[in-house]
Amino acid sequence: MSDSKLWSGRFVRPTADLMERFNASIGFDIRLYDVDIDGSLAQAEALRRAGVLSSDEWAAVALGLEQVREEISNGAYSPGVDAEDVHMAVERRLIEIVGPVGGKIHTGRSRNDQVALDVRMYVMREISALHEGIASLQQVVVDRAGGEIETFVPGYTHLQQGQPLRLAHYLLALFWMLDRDRCRLLDARARMDRMPLGSGALAGSAFPVDREFLCERLGFSAPSENSIDAVTDRDYLAETVFAVAQLVTHLSRYAEDWIVWSSREFGFVELDDAYSTGSSMMPQKKNPDSLELIRGKTGRLYGGLVSLLTVQKGLPLTYGKDLQEDKAPLFDALDTARDCVAAFTGVLSTIEFRRGRMKEALDPNLYATDLADTLVRRGLPFRDAHLIVGELVGTAVERGAGLTDLQWEDFVEASSLFVPDDIARLAPAASADARSLPGGTGRAAVADQLNAAIDRLKERVAQ
Ligand code: ARG
Repeated sequence: MSDSKLWSGRFVRPTADLMERFNASIGFDIRLYDVDIDGSLAQAEALRRAGVLSSDEWAAVALGLEQVREEISNGAYSPGVDAEDVHMAVERRLIEIVGPVGGKIHTGRSRNDQVALDVRMYVMREISALHEGIASLQQVVVDRAGGEIETFVPGYTHLQQGQPLRLAHYLLALFWMLDRDRCRLLDARARMDRMPLGSGALAGSAFPVDREFLCERLGFSAPSENSIDAVTDRDYLAETVFAVAQLVTHLSRYAEDWIVWSSREFGFVELDDAYSTGSSMMPQKKNPDSLELIRGKTGRLYGGLVSLLTVQKGLPLTYGKDLQEDKAPLFDALDTARDCVAAFTGVLSTIEFRRGRMKEALDPNLYATDLADTLVRRGLPFRDAHLIVGELVGTAVERGAGLTDLQWEDFVEASSLFVPDDIARLAPAASADARSLPGGTGRAAVADQLNAAIDRLKERVAQ
């Protein structure tokens, strides 16, 4: 029998080596040691207040826990698979340091409420850090957009040129996507803000630990309402991983655009060397690997989300060891999201927008909608205007030209409602500024939007 196990009392034969390795989560949950020790320190204090630990015992345990923290952080104590998981590793080392009194810390507590506490605290901290990262990226979006109000780029639908856009407007679309991602994470954090300690294994602790005190001590808003729910549900993890999957999905769309835009054929952007890599064989290559990786990393995030949902599906209440499988996809998702946000921030801060190439690429037929709108303003039903301008585009295409290359006679022939000035107004700024209602790509609207984005970033300081 392996007597190093804290739960070995009823066992007569040792754990198989394979089982020991298969069962162990220490390889990936060691990162919870800090929150685990914070939780145990609060638990020790609650036990002292409940009369389970004397003041001396509490002082010894608290000192011991701080020593365990120090030893893990500086590498002096590095538990192996025989420690099973982070909770056992901390408790075992605590008992080695302070003696049998260390064994009092788990009174009325189970690893089930302990792990629910640790993961909540860990994820709440991670969300706060990620939230800051997203806000910094939003600031970079605002900064870059501010410099590109007078830059025009073809706007695409179906990857065919549709209408000209101010580049600032195109960039600010990302600002609002990121803003919802950031708020989704804050919402998830608010929902997981329930303190599970005192739930025990499933039915609650039989010792009168003051749960309000634990909340205050650990920075939670309120204790969980139901011990079963507290130990068994993982909805807050699925929700968090969805939020980061959606975040990186947003980034992947801009990544894809800029991968295409950095090709020789488009040439709209040039990535900084710092965020590109070369080819092992072709000396001329400069590849947008940073953006390709962001695009590619969505796969593991979606995989993680499916894992988290599947681990919970049909799991009998309450705890099952299946739930240990929540950690690898969760941690991977949080790490991946943080890296993607940082890498994207680096790319956007340094990317060169090649304004000349964007301008050259504007199709002269991009102003077809503007021309149709002109006829509508002069009383024609839009459907008729659409047909007339469509025929004009057809004439231009037949001559291997665009709308702006047509002669005044062509316009007169198409409709008597045209006036010579209409031709001069077939230009990106005029087209954009015709869309100056709020939310459009017109100059005034984009300036207002930029100010709204700046105000939004100021508001978040309060969050
Ligand atoms: N390492 C475990 C997990 O991550 C801790 C909880 C174990 N609880 C238990 N009853 N065996 O879920």
